[in-house]
Amino acid sequence: MPETHLMPPQPRCAPAAAAPGPTAVGGAQPWPALVDRINQRLDELLPLVPHASSQPNPLAPAMRHAVLGMGKRVRALLALQAARELEADDAMALDAGCAIEMLHAASLVLDDLPAMDDAPLRRGQPATHLVFGEATAMLTAVSLIARAFALVGGLTQVSAEARCAMVAVLACTIGSEGMSAGQQCDVAPAPGRANLRLVEQVGEQKTGSLFVAAVELGALAGQASAAQRARLRSYAQHVGLAFQIADDLVDEDEDTGRDTYVGLLGRGGAQALLRKHVQAARGELLQPRGGLMQLTHALFAAHLGPQERMP
Ligand code: IPE
Ligand code: IPE
Ligand code: MG
Repeated sequence: MPETHLMPPQPRCAPAAAAPGPTAVGGAQPWPALVDRINQRLDELLPLVPHASSQPNPLAPAMRHAVLGMGKRVRALLALQAARELEADDAMALDAGCAIEMLHAASLVLDDLPAMDDAPLRRGQPATHLVFGEATAMLTAVSLIARAFALVGGLTQVSAEARCAMVAVLACTIGSEGMSAGQQCDVAPAPGRANLRLVEQVGEQKTGSLFVAAVELGALAGQASAAQRARLRSYAQHVGLAFQIADDLVDEDEDTGRDTYVGLLGRGGAQALLRKHVQAARGELLQPRGGLMQLTHALFAAHLGPQERMP
């Protein structure tokens, strides 16, 4: 497998005319053929007319807009690569990865709403609420979350017990212990001075939780032991935090009004912490030269020194 670089998180407000694809900045997307497969499967899973009906789904155009844009598919790749390290069924892992991408897309639709970040653009295209209206955007997010649960609940290739565990993972991820809690802290920060622990907690909840869920689904698909699952979980926590720091570094110039790693630590300090998380993440991997290691390297290569890069 050739060594590849993945672009870091993109600036929120790239001009629509540029409409950057996921490979436009910072190098090549890892596993382009696999990303095509993920995109193709997402397309199949979100039909305009549901398979069991002759009536078009009125929310399908907005759901497709939210999901099928030029996302990097990092979370689906994490699910797939974790599952591959455990030799799980690839088709099932693909669907689990698509479910996480749907949750992620739902979180972005909500994040871009005027009541939250009020972002006009997402993935180089007008945000969902600007194309379809705010009410439809909210219903789209709910529908995508529901679709993700239905998808995971229907993965009959695994035991009922594993399926229940997957559903529980999704629930913790999106709810008030995970992504929603992190977003709420951004919306209504706790009074008092910002500190690193608080910024880290928000990052863990709003971004890390989806990374952990992706790897957890892969681990459950591959019937990981409790010890393997714990290590993969820790890996994903570190990768999620590193990813949030990378996002803060990209968004540094935007006055978001929220506390960030760069604001607290400066650019150099944030970059040093990112490297620490990448190193810690690597230390948890089950296969030192497997797909997750390659993905980690592709995600963060731009932030690593020559000594830290994968040979
Ligand atoms: C953006 O995530 C939101 C963050 C958590 C920083 P990505 O940078 O993975 O977004 P897409 O899916 O590629 O658009
Ligand atoms: C988005 O966080 C994270 C979630 C949607 C949970 P940000 O607001 O930091 O990410 P961008 O910059 O909009 O992608
Ligand atoms: Mg945002």
